[in-house]
Amino acid sequence: MKTIIEPFRIKSVEPLRRSTPEERAAWMREAHYNLFLLDANRILIDLLTDSGTSAMSTGQWAAMMRGDESYAGSESFHRFRRAVEELTGFRHVIPTHQGRAAERILFTVMCKPGHVVPNNTHFDTTRANIEFTGAAALDLPVPEAAETQAPLDFKGNMDVAALQRTIDEAGATRIPLAIVTVTNNSGGGQPVSMANLRAVRDVCRARGIPFYLDACRFAENAWFIQQREPGYGGRTPKQIAQEMFALADGCTFSAKKDAFANIGGFLCTNDSRLAALEKDLLILTEGFPTYGGLAGRDLEAIAVGLDEVVDQDYLDYRMASTRYLGRHIAGAGVPIVEPPGGHAIYVDAARLLPHIPRGEFPGQALAVELYLEAGIRSVEIGSVMFGDAARHELLRLAIPRRVYTQSHMDYVVEAILAVAARKEAIRGLRIVEEPPHLRHFSAKFEPTS
Ligand code: F0G
Repeated sequence: MKTIIEPFRIKSVEPLRRSTPEERAAWMREAHYNLFLLDANRILIDLLTDSGTSAMSTGQWAAMMRGDESYAGSESFHRFRRAVEELTGFRHVIPTHQGRAAERILFTVMCKPGHVVPNNTHFDTTRANIEFTGAAALDLPVPEAAETQAPLDFKGNMDVAALQRTIDEAGATRIPLAIVTVTNNSGGGQPVSMANLRAVRDVCRARGIPFYLDACRFAENAWFIQQREPGYGGRTPKQIAQEMFALADGCTFSAKKDAFANIGGFLCTNDSRLAALEKDLLILTEGFPTYGGLAGRDLEAIAVGLDEVVDQDYLDYRMASTRYLGRHIAGAGVPIVEPPGGHAIYVDAARLLPHIPRGEFPGQALAVELYLEAGIRSVEIGSVMFGDAARHELLRLAIPRRVYTQSHMDYVVEAILAVAARKEAIRGLRIVEEPPHLRHFSAKFEPTS
């Protein structure tokens, strides 16, 4: 059979809430044209993020029931640690309440003013946590990634020559670590090849610089390597993921993505001295090192999720679903970051709405219109989120794992095409109020005219 179906059946359902265009217009005004400020019960289909929004499996729910809530040394921690160790091979596994907690601890221990931290592309919390220590966060994507329409196999790769230049210019002592984000979320959900990971590792190793993975979507990246990189077609996603982790000295991980958990994360390292410092900080704000801000049942859900996510049938379906959304809107003339990424489709809002200047936030304007049209929530990844550091004006449609069906995707396609059909009438926005950090979460906007 050629049809790719959801490799699960549905046992428990949640109602979706419909609304009228008039209601949505009023709610959007009330939320100051910022979709983060909308209550979830005013959303029909929520593509704000794939983070923490997964549907858990019967296996995960069953495991949660045996959660051991002991303060120290719980069985749940040992099951969690074994699952992470088996996958990643790292010597020290430190649970955290989510990815950014791992980032904060790692960068507090490793970074200081004057340091530079290269990444293929930093995610917003990664950049903010690095800058909070006084260090600089440097994006080094491959130059071809600047062209949203170029259909490259591994558009998430780091520019290895630029990394080498950065190290030569800054000096290795000013670079406490280099990071590669798999898949490259801010760069369009694009994968990184094993060859690129290996090249980055070699450059780092030659200069004694620790090499870390931001591994949030490691399984989706492994699937792309399996499908696209010569020599990997016969390997399982798990074997490929193990090879990716084996190249690195440590990782940060948000279990809210490729572990199907609603909360959680971890920090890993092979460096015992660093691990000791990290655990000291962990105790200060997250909790004892055998629970790190999580309940025992959360650790159980993550352990099971890490095993489920490398399933071939699941990954085939997951990628087919994302590709379906991308191909159907791109086929009808809506420019997306090509080729479709793993967890999301990114519409090139600057290209779709050329009459809206960057300073009037075409991505945000498009997100507002998609909500007004059909009750769909998406997120701007552009000048609102990154300010002057933004390379593109994108609208991200992130697909929660195992949550929406094919007919939901058809509805999303129809809605996007309806908005695109009236694109000339869409106006820009201006910011009327904003906080000093991570402004996209709480900034207030109003239409420009
Ligand atoms: N790194 C990457 C690449 C991410 O995508 C995220 C979160 C984090 C780190 C931080 O993890 O949320 O558990 O603290 N990304 C979400 C998103 C929020 O919508 O892309 P966290």
